[in-house]
Amino acid sequence: MGENGKGGVVAMACDHGGLALKTVLKAALLDGGAEVLDLGVNDAASVDYPDYADALAAAIADGRASRGVLVCGSGIGISIAANRHAHIRAALVHDAYGARMSRRHNDANVIVFGGRTIGDEVAKDCLEIFLATPFEGGRHQRRVDKLGAKA
Ligand code: RB5
Repeated sequence: MGENGKGGVVAMACDHGGLALKTVLKAALLDGGAEVLDLGVNDAASVDYPDYADALAAAIADGRASRGVLVCGSGIGISIAANRHAHIRAALVHDAYGARMSRRHNDANVIVFGGRTIGDEVAKDCLEIFLATPFEGGRHQRRVDKLGAKA
């Protein structure tokens, strides 16, 4: 899978509800030659999704990865947790259109899936689009600039 000419490591993290899909997406990324930083979880025990969103946000903040993939059962909790970090723009994606627009208009740096709500092949397609699509900039940059932390 390409990465918008930027290269860079793709960090991945999930809770128990997202493990099956993270495993599928990790294999697809590695098959495509991407470098992956797997931050867990890697067994089926019940864990708390904010811990994994925080770990991924830290990896992007300190430069260990440039993009991220998060998965929980619905995708909702781990999205909320990730977007608490001002440097993260995490997009919960369900289809190719959302994956494309999350990059073109929102400059999302993290794609999020619900492991219990999306099929493996659709998610793989979305991830490939996410990694290959550039940000359009222009008027969208002004809007993205307004996405910082709010009181
Ligand atoms: C875990 O059962 C589930 O609540 C979690 O994966 C996620 O869906 C939360 O938003």
